[in-house]
Amino acid sequence: MTGRPIIIDTDPGVDDALAIMLAAASPEVDVLGIIAVAGNVGLDKTSANAAALADLVGLACPIGVGASGPLGAREAESAEHVHGGNGLGGYVLPPSSRAKVPGLSLLSSLIEASTEPVTVVTIGPLTDIALLMAENPAAARQVERFIVMGGGTLDVPGNATPAAEFNFYADPEAAARVFAFGTPITMVGLNATHQALVGPEHLPRLRQSGGRIAHLVEHILADYERAGYGMGGAMEMHDPLAVAVAIDPTLVSTAPRHVDVEDAGRLTAGMAVVDHRYRPGSPPNADLAVTVDVPRFRTMLDERLADLDTRVGR
Ligand code: RIB
Ligand code: CA
Repeated sequence: MTGRPIIIDTDPGVDDALAIMLAAASPEVDVLGIIAVAGNVGLDKTSANAAALADLVGLACPIGVGASGPLGAREAESAEHVHGGNGLGGYVLPPSSRAKVPGLSLLSSLIEASTEPVTVVTIGPLTDIALLMAENPAAARQVERFIVMGGGTLDVPGNATPAAEFNFYADPEAAARVFAFGTPITMVGLNATHQALVGPEHLPRLRQSGGRIAHLVEHILADYERAGYGMGGAMEMHDPLAVAVAIDPTLVSTAPRHVDVEDAGRLTAGMAVVDHRYRPGSPPNADLAVTVDVPRFRTMLDERLADLDTRVGR
């Protein structure tokens, strides 16, 4: 192993797919495992997509099947309207034949077995992480840092609702538990990912490369625009930014903040409540990503995906 060991918990998901590609293309990180969670689409599809994406990008790591829905009695959310019925914007990957294993035990065992401190990058609802903290708190405390794509701030609070970002909205109780647990967290919220807009014009090397990765990325961007969520052909790179922070933390500036997540509000369920007061009511429990070096992020994405495209081929 040469890079920082990371585990990705994900609900692929078109931007999750880009994040997994970026991780596979970056020598700074070693993907120990991928755990699929229900979120954008159901667990059957997110876990199949995770395995198929791992095959595509050449990741030999184990694939875990995580939680099939949120904690408690809450109904599972879906973002099929954004990610398409199959979770990949309708793009059909060859189905994977690799065996998948129970996600929570995989998450625990990878953390416990690692000889290096592990970073867990969460790019879906936080159900699996909350369950880890409840069922194996010692393993959760062994994690060096959670890099969490989720939440937002008052200037960019929500996308699933006016107040809440999708990953926190899909399981507010899990998100609240994760932020209350105490392990270091970097929160990559909508206030940051909103800056990380990427369109075809920002990926010249990848477009020139023209292989299977380039084709999938082109499809994802076009479908996102077709679904009405693009911004003039560009896409907010929510999940790829979280992975990029694991690759190079200097891509974002951060500020220590106390974050809690509303888990009971009629209008605000899933809202990230970030305390910006000079004298906060509680000590900071997260490093909030504030500004993004967007040109450097775009260059990283273009160069890494183009290199991956060359490796994967046509
Ligand atoms: O709000 C953006 C997040 O919700 C991303 O992780 C996207 O994949 C969806 O899961
Ligand atoms: Ca996601």
